[in-house]
Amino acid sequence: MRSKLIAGNWKMHGTIKETRKLILQLAVEWKKSCEQVEVLVCPPFTSLIVARHELEMSHIKLGAQNCFTGIDGAYTGEISATMLAEIGCSYVIVGHSERRTIFAETDDLVSRKVRSVLDAKLNAIVCIGESEAQRTSGETEAVLSRQLKGSLAGLSASDIVSVTIAYEPVWAIGTGKTASPEVAETAHRFVRSELETLFPGTSENVRILYGGSIKAENAVSLFSQPNIDGGLVGGASLDAEGFIDIIQAAVSL
Ligand code: 13P
Repeated sequence: MRSKLIAGNWKMHGTIKETRKLILQLAVEWKKSCEQVEVLVCPPFTSLIVARHELEMSHIKLGAQNCFTGIDGAYTGEISATMLAEIGCSYVIVGHSERRTIFAETDDLVSRKVRSVLDAKLNAIVCIGESEAQRTSGETEAVLSRQLKGSLAGLSASDIVSVTIAYEPVWAIGTGKTASPEVAETAHRFVRSELETLFPGTSENVRILYGGSIKAENAVSLFSQPNIDGGLVGGASLDAEGFIDIIQAAVSL
């Protein structure tokens, strides 16, 4: 049985002071460790070290929102997975649609980032998802299949234990237009079947998160779907109370 993962992607939000405040609020509310639900926060790079310190006594894990490939080198402005491991991260989000669209990240680059994350002994959250136009023109499955195959290229079945997939339909991100539980479940089921084809025998152990306008009000109906193993939460994770309600939704199932 897969445990759920509820991850907050704070994107480019929050000063160090604001991050500390939010983490302290979360840590007060989420003191217990819970076998069924793992909680993760991914603040901006500048807040990671403070976040690590504030999270020391809690069961909330720390993640980063991006990294570059390799260990070190002449890559001005970039940060490696090894550096993120040193700072205390256990997860790195890779291939978020904002990086794919705004920063032109390709599946090939995403796959090389995933390799670096796994080489640093961290877990990768690999994001995939179709745009509104792609859904409307009936390309959803082809897009998901291509992104999955490209982003996981070169991995072995044993690598897959450290990979979480996040299905984030681009049209649902930051728009308030959540995918219905049925639409999301259909996509997740497809992703799992594709994973089974790519890495036979592993897909039942891979967590597939949903992301896109998750709120406390829709969390239970989404998380109760058999192939939805938690959420990658953007806007709603910036509010401690709202994020805790989403975590509680997962705990309640
Ligand atoms: P929202 O929850 O704000 O729609 O963002 C989702 C997301 O992009 C998480 O990575």
